[in-house]
Amino acid sequence: MVKIGFVGAGRIGQTLTYSTLLSGISEEATIFDIVPNLPQRFKDELLHALAASHINIKLSATNSLDEVKDNDIIVISAGKPRQPNQDRTAVFSDNAKIMIEFAKVLPKNNPNALFLVVTNPVDQMASVFMKYSNKFTISSGAQVENMRLRSFIADRLGVPVDRINGFVGGEHGERLSVFWDTVTVNGAPFDRAASGKLTREEVTLYVKGVAAQVIATLGGTSWGPATSIRDIIVAFATNENRVMSIAAPLKYKDEVIHMSRPTVVGNVIGPTLEASLSLDDQKLLNSAADNMYNEYKDLLKKLV
Ligand SMILES: NC(=O)c1ccc[n+]([C@@H]2O[C@H](COP(=O)([O-])OP(=O)(O)OC[C@H]3O[C@@H](n4cnc5c(N)ncnc54)[C@H](O)[C@@H]3O)[C@@H](O)[C@H]2O)c1
Repeated sequence: MVKIGFVGAGRIGQTLTYSTLLSGISEEATIFDIVPNLPQRFKDELLHALAASHINIKLSATNSLDEVKDNDIIVISAGKPRQPNQDRTAVFSDNAKIMIEFAKVLPKNNPNALFLVVTNPVDQMASVFMKYSNKFTISSGAQVENMRLRSFIADRLGVPVDRINGFVGGEHGERLSVFWDTVTVNGAPFDRAASGKLTREEVTLYVKGVAAQVIATLGGTSWGPATSIRDIIVAFATNENRVMSIAAPLKYKDEVIHMSRPTVVGNVIGPTLEASLSLDDQKLLNSAADNMYNEYKDLLKKLV
C-alpha cells in the first residue's frame, strides 16, 4: 500500500486519481489544487465512487501545498493544457514556473517520494522539476503512446490487444519514434503480420496525431493517459518490474534530460533497455536525445 499525493485536480488529474484509487493500491492519498473548493468537492465525488467499489481510503483535499506530506509517490498534473492548435512546448514557460514553485515546497515534506510528472511538455517539465528540486523525477513519457500503438493495430487487424507488443520512445507527442523492430502481432514481426492490411505509415500517423484530434473534439485527452499513468503508479507500488515507455532521468552533456525508453518500472526505476533495441531503433533514440537536449536548452533560456 502506498501513500499518494495528487498535485492537480483538473481534467487529467481527476481521471488519473480516479483510475489509480480504484485499483486499490493506496490506503491514504491527498488531492491538491489551487482552485478553492475544487479538491474538496472532487474528494466528495471520489469517496462516493470508492464506496460503491467497496474501497476504504483515507482521503484528504487541500489548497495548501504544505499539506501534501509524507507521500511515497507524488503525481504532478497541475498546469496549463495546450490549446487545439498549439504544440506541447507552447506552454513551457508558464508550466515551468509552476514546476519551480512546486520544486521549492514538495521535497521538504516528501523526502522519500518518487516524483512523477504528467504536466506538458511532460519530459521537459520532469527535467525542470528535477533540476530545481534535486529529487529523482520521472515523466509519464510515451507510455500512453504504447497503448495507442497497440490498440490501433489490434483494432485494424482484428487481433486481441494483448497479442500486440511493441514500444515507442523518444519524445512524448508528435515527434516520438516507433521502435518497429519491437512491434509484433501474435508473436510475428509487424511487417509480416500486417502485410497488405496496414502500413507502418498509417500506424505512425495515428499514434502521433490522435491526441490532437481528441483535444480538438473533446477539449483534452484524459482516459488514455490517465489509465496509462495509473499503470505506472501500480507498477511502482506493487514492484511489478514491468517494461514501460516512461522517461527516467538521462545525463546528457551538461543537463539531465528526460526521454522515453523502454524502462523496467518497479519500486526501483530502471534499468532502461535501450541496449536491447535494434541498431536502427537505437539510432532513432540517439537523434531524439540530441533534439530534445537542444530544444530544452533553448527553452531554459526563456526562463531567465
Ligand atoms: N502527459 C500526458 O500524457 C498528458 C495528458 C493529458 C494532459 N496533460 C497535461 O496535463 C496538464 C493539465 O491538463 P488538464 O487537461 O488536466 O488541464 P486542466 O486545465 O483541466 O487542469 C489543470 C489543473 O491545474 C491546476 N493548476 C494550475 N496552476 C496551478 C498551480 N500553480 N498550482 C496548483 N494547481 C494549479 C488548475 O487549477 C487545474 O485544476 C497540461 O499541461 C496538459 O497538457 C498531459
